Amino acid sequence: MNWDDTSSVTDDTQAGRLVGAAADGEDQAVEAALRPKSLDEFVGQERVREQLDLVLKAARQRGATADHVLLSGAPGLGKTTLSMIIAAEMGAPIRITSGPAIQHAGDLAAILSSLQEGEVLFLDEIHRMSRPAEEMLYMAMEDFRVDVIVGKGPGATAIPLELPPFTLVGATTRAGLLPPPLRDRFGFTAHMEFYEPVELERVIHRSASLLNVEIGADGAAEIAGRSRGTPRIANRLLRRVRDYAQVKADGVISRDIAAAALAVYEVDARGLDRLDRAVLQALLKLFGGGPVGLSTLAVAVGEERETVEEVAEPFLVREGLLARTPRGRVATPAAWAHLGLTPPRQATGGNGQQDLFGA
Ligand SMILES: Nc1ncnc2c1ncn2[C@@H]1O[C@H](COP(=O)(O)OP(=O)(O)O)[C@@H](O)[C@H]1O
Ligand SMILES: [Mg+2]
Repeated sequence: MNWDDTSSVTDDTQAGRLVGAAADGEDQAVEAALRPKSLDEFVGQERVREQLDLVLKAARQRGATADHVLLSGAPGLGKTTLSMIIAAEMGAPIRITSGPAIQHAGDLAAILSSLQEGEVLFLDEIHRMSRPAEEMLYMAMEDFRVDVIVGKGPGATAIPLELPPFTLVGATTRAGLLPPPLRDRFGFTAHMEFYEPVELERVIHRSASLLNVEIGADGAAEIAGRSRGTPRIANRLLRRVRDYAQVKADGVISRDIAAAALAVYEVDARGLDRLDRAVLQALLKLFGGGPVGLSTLAVAVGEERETVEEVAEPFLVREGLLARTPRGRVATPAAWAHLGLTPPRQATGGNGQQDLFGA
């Protein structure tokens, strides 16, 4: 599926959310320890792994620097992890920076001109780079050259500077926002998909053993089902369940322990949290399943419009629980089933309201 269509979630709106996909402070502290170090250790994403393996092997055989790689996918799916794996597989050092950190072309020139031959430059959130820096990057990627501008006004001169061959690894949550000339300069683009529950179970087992946590197969399955297809969320839920198992039980994570722990944190069997359920509940109970306008729905749950639209809705849409239509938000039959409610007669899509209001 193409998550770009449904997700415009920014890191800021997800802050403090147990099922948010952006990394919080605690994630950042533990993620280094949980990151797979090689392609073999990297769980799932079979196609990407196979393609990347070929790209890297071929470059190694030729004794060349690997082609530039673009990684696109939702937060928490493993882009940063893959960039480090690319460097490790190439036996190359890695330099890490991000689009927002590069405000001026000069910032980029300074980084590029200090790269070693074969080095991997990881540019996170590449879609947030400034325009002048972007244009400098085109030339650097294609010709391994930058023009450093010295002086101002009519007296300014461009001094060409040769760069050693390097591999740019760009990461973006919004591939659609990249200007085509930039996208075209990547030799290989990897689209990362959300993970299947069985893949997340493997991620959870792997992390549990690194964290020295005992977990049963059913415990891992229970956490995986609530992790929204996202390894970062799976690892975070695992840590919360571990706390619960330690305090309330013998430390071993079974299905019951996982379910009880995540009930405390209000993450339901499908990975919906309190906000997600509040939105669905309002849509079903107050508006008969819709259609209802976004603003009305937001007022009904006491949240900002943007919060409902950017924080709650993308996952509800992805899960097939809610649809955005020109006439407003509409609940699907799966939404009624998930909340254990009975839809009004003929409530498939937009018909519910007509029944309720006798129109
Ligand atoms: N395929 C994977 N296998 C195992 N762990 C993964 C995988 N992808 C991501 N993770 C874990 O999820 C966390 C978030 O991954 P990260 O690479 O930071 O995501 P992104 O950069 O796409 O937001 C990391 O701690 C990493 O350990
Ligand atoms: Mg990242």
